[in-house]
Amino acid sequence: MHAPADAAPSFETLFGRPPRVHVRAPGRVNLIGEHTDYNGGFVLPMAIPQQTEVRLAPREDRKVRAFSANLGAKGNVDEYELGQEKRGRGWLDYVQGVTHVLRAEGLTVGGFDLWLRSDVPLGSGLSSSAALEVALLRGLREAFGLTLDDVRIALLGQKVECDFVGAPVGVMDQMASSLAHGSAALFLDTRTLQYERVPLPPGVEPIVINSGVTHSHSGGDYRVRRAECERAAAQLGVAQLRDLPDAELPRAMALPDPLGRRVRHVLTENARVLATVRALRSGDLAALGPLLYDSHASQRDDYEVSVPEIDLLVDLARAEPDVLGARLTGGGFGGSVVMLARAGKGAGAAARIVARYSEKSAHKGTILVPESPSER
Ligand code: GLA
Repeated sequence: MHAPADAAPSFETLFGRPPRVHVRAPGRVNLIGEHTDYNGGFVLPMAIPQQTEVRLAPREDRKVRAFSANLGAKGNVDEYELGQEKRGRGWLDYVQGVTHVLRAEGLTVGGFDLWLRSDVPLGSGLSSSAALEVALLRGLREAFGLTLDDVRIALLGQKVECDFVGAPVGVMDQMASSLAHGSAALFLDTRTLQYERVPLPPGVEPIVINSGVTHSHSGGDYRVRRAECERAAAQLGVAQLRDLPDAELPRAMALPDPLGRRVRHVLTENARVLATVRALRSGDLAALGPLLYDSHASQRDDYEVSVPEIDLLVDLARAEPDVLGARLTGGGFGGSVVMLARAGKGAGAAARIVARYSEKSAHKGTILVPESPSER
């Protein structure tokens, strides 16, 4: 993944001076709690080792000059004037979205030269876009002395997606990128934004495998799911599905299909997040596996966000005795699978799963976690 980036020119070569600020933000993997964030529910993401790196230096004028090292030696420096942000320029939309949202919120920045590089694979369900937004906001906070705490950074990143890029996402990814670190999961109530760090018990380690099937959340399917939830909530007389007591599930199941199944996913998924947090805290490894597999089945059958390649990876995980459980992570329609394995057994199990996956599918699986030592 580093190959094209290595061939890219440095900040100094491009802009003729050193960067003033050098910061990073991680991608995330969600252990459990999928499609609950825009329903006011619970999520449990973790940071992954893959990150987006930002180097920048303020300019005297109101120009933003930006370069993505992921494009390698062939990349161009792209430019725009602050206040002239216009959608439709690919990766630059996330940069333009950040300066657009900062201005809309009354936060003043000047022009800047920007160099960025990411090893979070795009469209893999691991929040490459949130990592970019959070890294850039961190960089601008430092360079222009903005008064922003990490929660505000996350909320601004979410606004970039919703108000500029046009992807109506929840707040999980930006909160995870801004607040999660190390090997603890971030147990987040997306309604109150209260969070707690929940360490994985010593006997467990995560595996993350990218299926190689990419997705985009500004596309239709994510939007349709979100709209279905809002319609169901309105018909059931609650502000958000978070507010629907479990006892009301039979009433939800009487709604026209698929609304009932969508509600069932959200309600049972919220309960699974709470159960997973209890199991992690008490070190109850036996409880974890079924929670992950049930979450996957619910995403596949009730929420209908899985694809055959992801189901295949989850089935291959079942054949591994050291894998406790596995599920689709992120928005779905492609992307990655998260698994929990017995500590020390993750790398071997992941290698076998990816080898079988290559035999049985047209796509190449990539192991992101555990990271192989040669990758850093
Ligand atoms: C995407 C969105 C998140 C969340 C997940 C599904 O990653 O950005 O807000 O809705 O999908 O859990």
